[in-house]
Amino acid sequence: MEFISRLQGKACVCLGLILIVLGAWSSEATSRSLQDASMYGRHEQWMAHYGRKYNDIREKEKRFNIFKENVAYIESSNDDANKLYKLGVNQFADLTNDEFKASRNRFKGHECSTKTTSFKYENVTASVPTTMDWRKKGAVTPIKDQGQCGCCWAFSAVAATEGITQLTTGKLISLSEQELVDCDTNGEDQGCEGGLMDDAFQFIQQNHGLSTEANYPYSGVDGTCNTKKEASIAAKITGYEDVPTNSEQALLKAVANQPVSVAIDASGSDFQFYSSGVFTGTCGTSLDHGVTAVGYGVGDDGTKFWLVKNSWGTEWGEEGYIRMQRDVDAAEGLCGIAMSASYPTA
Ligand SMILES: *[C@@H]1O[C@H](CO)[C@@H](O)[C@H](O)[C@H]1NC(C)=O
Repeated sequence: MEFISRLQGKACVCLGLILIVLGAWSSEATSRSLQDASMYGRHEQWMAHYGRKYNDIREKEKRFNIFKENVAYIESSNDDANKLYKLGVNQFADLTNDEFKASRNRFKGHECSTKTTSFKYENVTASVPTTMDWRKKGAVTPIKDQGQCGCCWAFSAVAATEGITQLTTGKLISLSEQELVDCDTNGEDQGCEGGLMDDAFQFIQQNHGLSTEANYPYSGVDGTCNTKKEASIAAKITGYEDVPTNSEQALLKAVANQPVSVAIDASGSDFQFYSSGVFTGTCGTSLDHGVTAVGYGVGDDGTKFWLVKNSWGTEWGEEGYIRMQRDVDAAEGLCGIAMSASYPTA
Protein backbone atom coordinates (compact mmCIF):
# COMPACT_ATOMS: atom_id res chain seq x y z
CA MET A 1 0.00 0.00 0.00
CA GLU A 2 2.61 2.44 1.08
CA PHE A 3 4.65 1.47 -1.92
CA ILE A 4 1.82 2.31 -4.32
CA SER A 5 1.14 5.67 -2.73
CA ARG A 6 4.85 6.46 -2.95
CA LEU A 7 4.85 5.65 -6.65
CA GLN A 8 1.82 7.84 -7.16
CA GLY A 9 3.53 10.62 -5.26
CA LYS A 10 6.49 10.32 -7.58
CA ALA A 11 4.28 10.54 -10.65
CA CYS A 12 2.74 13.72 -9.25
CA VAL A 13 6.18 15.20 -8.72
CA CYS A 14 7.13 14.37 -12.30
CA LEU A 15 3.97 15.92 -13.70
CA GLY A 16 4.00 19.06 -11.64
CA LEU A 17 5.94 21.98 -13.05
CA ILE A 18 6.76 23.72 -9.82
CA LEU A 19 9.51 26.06 -8.69
CA ILE A 20 13.09 25.14 -9.56
CA VAL A 21 14.06 25.04 -5.90
CA LEU A 22 11.20 22.71 -5.13
CA GLY A 23 12.12 20.69 -8.21
CA ALA A 24 15.68 20.13 -6.96
CA TRP A 25 14.33 19.03 -3.60
CA SER A 26 11.87 16.62 -5.18
CA SER A 27 14.42 14.99 -7.49
CA GLU A 28 16.45 14.09 -4.44
CA ALA A 29 13.35 12.63 -2.86
CA THR A 30 12.61 10.78 -6.08
CA SER A 31 16.02 9.13 -6.25
CA ARG A 32 15.61 8.12 -2.61
CA SER A 33 12.23 6.57 -3.23
CA LEU A 34 13.53 4.91 -6.41
CA GLN A 35 16.20 3.25 -4.29
CA ASP A 36 13.50 2.14 -1.87
CA ALA A 37 11.38 0.91 -4.77
CA SER A 38 14.22 -1.21 -6.13
CA MET A 39 14.94 -2.54 -2.63
CA TYR A 40 11.24 -3.27 -2.30
CA GLY A 41 11.42 -5.26 -5.53
CA ARG A 42 14.42 -7.15 -4.21
CA HIS A 43 12.53 -7.99 -1.04
CA GLU A 44 9.56 -9.22 -3.11
CA GLN A 45 11.87 -11.43 -5.18
CA TRP A 46 13.56 -12.73 -2.08
CA MET A 47 10.16 -13.51 -0.50
CA ALA A 48 9.12 -15.42 -3.61
CA HIS A 49 12.40 -17.35 -3.72
CA TYR A 50 12.16 -18.45 -0.08
CA GLY A 51 8.37 -18.80 -0.06
CA ARG A 52 8.13 -16.23 2.73
CA LYS A 53 4.73 -14.74 3.57
CA TYR A 54 3.85 -12.16 6.18
CA ASN A 55 0.62 -11.92 8.12
CA ASP A 56 -0.07 -8.25 7.51
CA ILE A 57 1.23 -5.01 6.02
CA ARG A 58 2.82 -3.89 9.27
CA GLU A 59 4.79 -7.11 9.62
CA LYS A 60 5.85 -6.81 5.99
CA GLU A 61 6.99 -3.21 6.50
CA LYS A 62 8.96 -4.26 9.58
CA ARG A 63 10.58 -7.20 7.75
CA PHE A 64 11.33 -4.99 4.74
CA ASN A 65 13.24 -2.55 6.93
CA ILE A 66 15.27 -5.36 8.54
CA PHE A 67 15.94 -6.80 5.07
CA LYS A 68 17.10 -3.40 3.84
CA GLU A 69 19.51 -3.00 6.75
CA ASN A 70 20.86 -6.52 6.31
CA VAL A 71 21.43 -5.99 2.58
CA ALA A 72 23.36 -2.79 3.36
CA TYR A 73 25.47 -4.68 5.92
CA ILE A 74 26.15 -7.56 3.51
CA GLU A 75 27.10 -5.24 0.65
CA SER A 76 29.43 -3.13 2.76
CA SER A 77 31.14 -6.25 4.11
CA ASN A 78 31.58 -7.60 0.57
CA ASP A 79 33.11 -4.29 -0.54
CA ASP A 80 36.01 -4.98 1.84
CA ALA A 81 38.54 -6.59 -0.50
CA ASN A 82 40.71 -7.70 2.44
CA LYS A 83 38.10 -10.17 3.66
CA LEU A 84 38.66 -13.76 2.54
CA TYR A 85 34.95 -14.53 2.68
CA LYS A 86 31.76 -13.17 1.18
CA LEU A 87 28.34 -12.70 2.72
CA GLY A 88 25.07 -13.35 0.91
CA VAL A 89 21.40 -12.37 1.09
CA ASN A 90 20.28 -15.81 2.27
CA GLN A 91 17.18 -17.21 4.01
CA PHE A 92 18.03 -15.28 7.20
CA ALA A 93 17.96 -11.86 5.49
CA ASP A 94 14.71 -10.68 7.12
CA LEU A 95 15.79 -11.60 10.64
CA THR A 96 17.64 -9.35 13.06
CA ASN A 97 20.75 -10.94 14.52
CA ASP A 98 18.96 -11.41 17.86
CA GLU A 99 16.05 -13.22 16.20
CA PHE A 100 18.45 -15.39 14.24
CA LYS A 101 20.34 -16.40 17.39
CA ALA A 102 17.15 -17.17 19.28
CA SER A 103 15.67 -19.38 16.56
CA ARG A 104 18.44 -21.85 15.87
CA ASN A 105 21.51 -21.84 18.03
CA ARG A 106 20.73 -24.06 20.97
CA PHE A 107 23.90 -25.89 21.80
CA LYS A 108 24.01 -25.89 25.61
CA GLY A 109 27.69 -25.13 25.79
CA HIS A 110 27.59 -23.41 29.13
CA GLU A 111 26.30 -26.51 30.86
CA CYS A 112 29.19 -28.83 30.21
CA SER A 113 28.70 -32.56 30.49
CA THR A 114 31.22 -34.84 32.15
CA LYS A 115 34.34 -35.02 30.05
CA THR A 116 35.69 -38.34 28.90
CA THR A 117 39.39 -38.86 29.47
CA SER A 118 40.61 -41.22 26.78
CA PHE A 119 41.54 -39.92 23.34
CA LYS A 120 42.26 -42.78 20.99
CA TYR A 121 43.83 -40.58 18.31
CA GLU A 122 46.50 -39.27 20.68
CA ASN A 123 49.36 -41.01 18.87
CA VAL A 124 48.22 -40.98 15.25
CA THR A 125 50.56 -38.27 13.96
CA ALA A 126 51.77 -40.56 11.17
CA SER A 127 48.28 -40.99 9.74
CA VAL A 128 47.37 -37.31 9.47
CA PRO A 129 47.26 -36.27 5.79
CA THR A 130 47.66 -32.59 4.80
CA THR A 131 44.08 -32.40 3.57
CA MET A 132 40.95 -34.42 4.25
CA ASP A 133 37.43 -34.33 2.83
CA TRP A 134 35.16 -37.05 4.22
CA ARG A 135 32.58 -36.23 1.54
CA LYS A 136 34.95 -37.63 -1.07
CA LYS A 137 35.30 -40.81 0.99
CA GLY A 138 31.53 -41.26 0.96
CA ALA A 139 31.14 -40.74 4.71
CA VAL A 140 28.90 -37.64 4.63
CA THR A 141 25.17 -37.56 3.83
CA PRO A 142 23.66 -34.62 1.89
CA ILE A 143 23.12 -31.32 3.75
CA LYS A 144 20.02 -31.29 5.96
CA ASP A 145 17.94 -28.40 7.27
CA GLN A 146 16.98 -28.11 10.95
CA GLY A 147 14.45 -25.36 10.18
CA GLN A 148 13.32 -23.33 13.17
CA CYS A 149 13.94 -26.09 15.70
CA GLY A 150 16.96 -25.51 17.97
CA CYS A 151 18.23 -29.06 17.64
CA CYS A 152 21.61 -28.39 15.99
CA TRP A 153 23.03 -30.78 18.60
CA ALA A 154 21.02 -33.67 17.08
CA PHE A 155 22.17 -32.87 13.52
CA SER A 156 25.77 -32.64 14.67
CA ALA A 157 25.68 -35.94 16.57
CA VAL A 158 23.85 -37.69 13.73
CA ALA A 159 26.37 -36.51 11.08
CA ALA A 160 29.25 -37.81 13.21
CA THR A 161 27.38 -41.10 13.75
CA GLU A 162 26.66 -41.41 10.01
CA GLY A 163 30.40 -40.92 9.45
CA ILE A 164 31.67 -43.60 11.83
CA THR A 165 28.96 -45.99 10.59
CA GLN A 166 30.13 -45.61 6.99
CA LEU A 167 33.76 -46.03 8.04
CA THR A 168 33.07 -49.26 9.91
CA THR A 169 30.35 -50.83 7.73
CA GLY A 170 31.03 -49.28 4.32
CA LYS A 171 27.40 -48.14 4.16
CA LEU A 172 26.33 -44.50 4.16
CA ILE A 173 22.93 -44.36 5.84
CA SER A 174 21.04 -41.17 6.63
CA LEU A 175 20.09 -41.42 10.31
CA SER A 176 17.27 -39.89 12.34
CA GLU A 177 17.56 -36.53 14.10
CA GLN A 178 13.87 -36.66 14.99
CA GLU A 179 14.41 -39.76 17.10
CA LEU A 180 16.87 -37.73 19.18
CA VAL A 181 14.47 -34.77 19.32
CA ASP A 182 11.52 -36.94 20.45
CA CYS A 183 13.13 -39.70 22.50
CA ASP A 184 16.40 -38.41 23.95
CA THR A 185 15.89 -36.71 27.31
CA ASN A 186 19.38 -37.65 28.40
CA GLY A 187 21.34 -34.98 30.32
CA GLU A 188 20.81 -31.59 28.72
CA ASP A 189 18.92 -32.86 25.69
CA GLN A 190 15.55 -31.15 25.24
CA GLY A 191 14.57 -31.45 21.59
CA CYS A 192 14.11 -28.10 19.87
CA GLU A 193 15.04 -26.32 23.11
CA GLY A 194 18.63 -27.48 22.84
CA GLY A 195 21.07 -30.15 23.86
CA LEU A 196 24.58 -31.54 23.78
CA MET A 197 26.20 -33.88 21.28
CA ASP A 198 27.84 -35.95 24.04
CA ASP A 199 24.47 -36.59 25.67
CA ALA A 200 23.13 -37.64 22.27
CA PHE A 201 25.99 -40.10 21.76
CA GLN A 202 25.28 -41.51 25.22
CA PHE A 203 21.60 -41.88 24.29
CA ILE A 204 22.45 -43.67 21.03
CA GLN A 205 24.75 -46.02 22.93
CA GLN A 206 22.19 -46.76 25.67
CA ASN A 207 19.39 -47.14 23.11
CA HIS A 208 21.55 -49.72 21.32
CA GLY A 209 21.56 -47.65 18.15
CA LEU A 210 19.69 -45.16 16.04
CA SER A 211 16.98 -45.49 13.39
CA THR A 212 17.16 -44.27 9.79
CA GLU A 213 15.96 -40.89 8.57
CA ALA A 214 13.55 -42.76 6.26
CA ASN A 215 12.01 -44.72 9.15
CA TYR A 216 11.85 -41.83 11.60
CA PRO A 217 11.74 -38.68 9.40
CA TYR A 218 12.39 -35.12 10.49
CA SER A 219 9.40 -32.97 11.39
CA GLY A 220 11.24 -30.02 12.94
CA VAL A 221 9.02 -29.82 16.03
CA ASP A 222 9.07 -31.53 19.41
CA GLY A 223 7.05 -34.73 19.34
CA THR A 224 6.24 -37.78 21.42
CA CYS A 225 8.74 -40.59 21.13
CA ASN A 226 7.58 -43.23 18.68
CA THR A 227 8.94 -46.29 20.48
CA LYS A 228 8.08 -48.62 17.62
CA LYS A 229 10.17 -46.62 15.17
CA GLU A 230 12.83 -46.14 17.81
CA ALA A 231 13.15 -49.92 18.11
CA SER A 232 14.15 -50.24 14.46
CA ILE A 233 17.93 -49.86 14.71
CA ALA A 234 20.11 -49.04 11.70
CA ALA A 235 23.42 -47.95 13.25
CA LYS A 236 25.21 -48.63 16.52
CA ILE A 237 28.02 -46.96 18.42
CA THR A 238 29.99 -48.26 21.38
CA GLY A 239 30.46 -44.89 23.07
CA TYR A 240 32.11 -41.55 22.49
CA GLU A 241 35.27 -39.63 23.34
CA ASP A 242 36.03 -35.94 23.82
CA VAL A 243 38.88 -34.38 21.89
CA PRO A 244 41.31 -32.75 24.37
CA THR A 245 40.08 -29.19 24.85
CA ASN A 246 41.65 -26.13 23.24
CA SER A 247 43.98 -27.91 20.85
CA GLU A 248 43.53 -27.60 17.11
CA GLN A 249 46.36 -30.16 16.82
CA ALA A 250 44.30 -32.72 18.73
CA LEU A 251 41.22 -31.84 16.67
CA LEU A 252 43.25 -32.39 13.50
CA LYS A 253 44.19 -35.91 14.61
CA ALA A 254 40.54 -36.71 15.23
CA VAL A 255 39.15 -35.19 12.00
CA ALA A 256 41.91 -36.97 10.04
CA ASN A 257 40.28 -40.21 11.19
CA GLN A 258 36.52 -39.55 11.19
CA PRO A 259 33.90 -36.76 11.04
CA VAL A 260 33.83 -35.01 14.42
CA SER A 261 31.08 -33.09 16.25
CA VAL A 262 32.22 -29.57 17.12
CA ALA A 263 30.57 -26.73 19.01
CA ILE A 264 31.07 -23.17 17.82
CA ASP A 265 29.94 -19.62 18.46
CA ALA A 266 27.70 -19.05 15.44
CA SER A 267 25.95 -15.99 16.80
CA GLY A 268 27.57 -13.26 14.70
CA SER A 269 26.03 -11.48 11.71
CA ASP A 270 28.90 -12.64 9.52
CA PHE A 271 28.09 -16.24 10.37
CA GLN A 272 24.39 -15.59 9.77
CA PHE A 273 25.08 -14.35 6.23
CA TYR A 274 28.21 -16.37 5.37
CA SER A 275 28.19 -17.25 1.70
CA SER A 276 31.64 -18.37 0.51
CA GLY A 277 35.37 -18.29 1.10
CA VAL A 278 37.45 -19.02 4.17
CA PHE A 279 35.62 -17.56 7.15
CA THR A 280 38.01 -15.62 9.38
CA GLY A 281 35.69 -14.09 11.97
CA THR A 282 34.26 -12.02 13.61
CA CYS A 283 33.11 -14.36 16.34
CA GLY A 284 33.43 -15.06 20.03
CA THR A 285 33.74 -18.28 22.00
CA SER A 286 30.30 -18.50 23.62
CA LEU A 287 29.49 -21.90 22.14
CA ASP A 288 25.89 -21.90 20.93
CA HIS A 289 25.80 -24.12 17.85
CA GLY A 290 26.60 -27.74 17.07
CA VAL A 291 28.03 -28.65 13.65
CA THR A 292 30.32 -31.33 12.24
CA ALA A 293 33.94 -31.05 11.09
CA VAL A 294 34.09 -33.26 7.98
CA GLY A 295 37.56 -32.34 6.77
CA TYR A 296 40.26 -29.72 6.52
CA GLY A 297 42.51 -28.19 3.92
CA VAL A 298 44.48 -25.19 2.73
CA GLY A 299 42.98 -22.38 0.65
CA ASP A 300 44.47 -20.94 -2.57
CA ASP A 301 46.23 -18.20 -0.64
CA GLY A 302 47.63 -20.61 1.95
CA THR A 303 45.01 -20.01 4.63
CA LYS A 304 44.30 -23.25 6.47
CA PHE A 305 40.67 -24.14 7.10
CA TRP A 306 38.30 -26.63 8.68
CA LEU A 307 35.58 -27.99 6.43
CA VAL A 308 32.37 -27.84 8.45
CA LYS A 309 28.96 -29.33 7.68
CA ASN A 310 26.08 -27.15 8.88
CA SER A 311 22.36 -28.00 9.11
CA TRP A 312 20.80 -24.86 7.61
CA GLY A 313 20.05 -26.22 4.13
CA THR A 314 22.08 -25.75 0.93
CA GLU A 315 21.24 -22.06 0.41
CA TRP A 316 23.46 -21.09 3.33
CA GLY A 317 27.24 -20.96 2.84
CA GLU A 318 29.02 -23.10 0.27
CA GLU A 319 26.12 -25.44 -0.56
CA GLY A 320 25.49 -25.80 3.17
CA TYR A 321 29.15 -26.00 4.23
CA ILE A 322 31.52 -23.43 5.72
CA ARG A 323 35.27 -23.33 5.54
CA MET A 324 36.49 -21.88 8.85
CA GLN A 325 40.01 -20.62 9.40
CA ARG A 326 42.22 -23.24 11.07
CA ASP A 327 45.32 -22.84 13.28
CA VAL A 328 44.45 -19.38 14.54
CA ASP A 329 46.41 -17.66 17.32
CA ALA A 330 43.82 -18.49 20.00
CA ALA A 331 44.00 -21.98 21.56
CA GLU A 332 40.19 -22.19 21.45
CA GLY A 333 40.27 -22.01 17.65
CA LEU A 334 38.11 -19.71 15.55
CA CYS A 335 34.65 -19.33 17.10
CA GLY A 336 35.77 -21.82 19.79
CA ILE A 337 35.87 -24.77 17.38
CA ALA A 338 38.51 -26.58 19.47
CA MET A 339 36.74 -26.13 22.80
CA SER A 340 34.18 -28.90 22.83
CA ALA A 341 34.75 -31.47 20.08
CA SER A 342 33.78 -35.13 20.37
CA TYR A 343 33.16 -38.22 18.28
CA PRO A 344 31.33 -41.50 18.57
CA THR A 345 33.31 -44.75 18.74
CA ALA A 346 32.41 -48.04 17.09
C1 LIG B 1 50.14 -42.88 23.28
O1 LIG B 1 51.51 -43.16 23.54
C2 LIG B 1 51.84 -43.08 24.93
C3 LIG B 1 53.37 -43.31 25.04
O2 LIG B 1 53.76 -44.46 24.37
C4 LIG B 1 51.06 -44.11 25.72
O3 LIG B 1 51.36 -44.02 27.09
C5 LIG B 1 49.57 -43.86 25.50
O4 LIG B 1 48.80 -44.85 26.13
C6 LIG B 1 49.23 -43.84 24.01
N1 LIG B 1 47.86 -43.44 23.86
C7 LIG B 1 46.95 -44.16 23.20
C8 LIG B 1 45.57 -43.62 23.17
O5 LIG B 1 47.22 -45.20 22.63
